[in-house]
Amino acid sequence: MPDPIVVMDDGAVRIIRINRPEKKNALTLAMYVEMTRALREAEASDAIRCVIFADAPGSFCAGNDIADFLKAADSGLDPRALKFLNALARSLKPLVAAVGGVAIGIGTTMLFHFDHVVAGAGAVFSTPFLKLALIPEAASSLLAPTRMGYARAFSMLGMGRPLSARVDDVALKAALEIAALPAGVVALARQQMRGHLDDVVERINTEAMHFKELLKSDEARAAFEAFLSRRK
Ligand code: COA
Repeated sequence: MPDPIVVMDDGAVRIIRINRPEKKNALTLAMYVEMTRALREAEASDAIRCVIFADAPGSFCAGNDIADFLKAADSGLDPRALKFLNALARSLKPLVAAVGGVAIGIGTTMLFHFDHVVAGAGAVFSTPFLKLALIPEAASSLLAPTRMGYARAFSMLGMGRPLSARVDDVALKAALEIAALPAGVVALARQQMRGHLDDVVERINTEAMHFKELLKSDEARAAFEAFLSRRK
């Protein structure tokens, strides 16, 4: 099987490609671990000045692997996804995403931690948490209303209405632009602009506390089983 997370460096830019196209880039625990490792390595490297998350053809990320959600309903929420979210929220390196296809669940909510998101013609952002009897995570309940305004955030996070993207494909160009700026002021500007880190981390944890309980509910279990056993 090809590696589901492919990491490569292009000069000052680290590219983390999610590469599980046969499952629309749904994220397994092992994939969270690899992405966390790649982020932490970038953090520790002076040579890397910007990180891009990129997708497989047609799919940026179909969210958490639903089979893993079903397992978590029995064994509890695994901390590996939370560690990844913490690494994203705390990232000192600018984060750029190249979204060419569907971005569902955490595939969308992780993007609120990014500095720049480039969406291709096929990009669709969707967060069907409530339909799965879950709540929005990754501090999206805090960050989405701030970034998009409450009404648009509720339409997406609450009602599960998808958002389509503008046509564009310039993530690498943007990342190179960022990488060419003086690193010290980029770090300082990001720190100021993203000021409320403690609130974000606290919200990730509060959401996770509810999420963990909701995963065990009959409604959530029924939603996961319905997806995994649906007829196409
Ligand atoms: N977890 C586990 N498997 C997933 C998955 C997920 N989140 N998303 C897609 N897959 C799997 C499908 O089960 C299917 O596997 P199979 O070929 O072994 O049956 C494969 O990926 C392809 O998906 P399919 O549904 O056939 O493709 P599609 O183009 O018709 O639809 C999606 C793509 C992403 C719109 C659809 O798969 C989907 O809605 N996925 C669930 C998204 C979701 O609810 N995520 C959780 C959010 S909290």
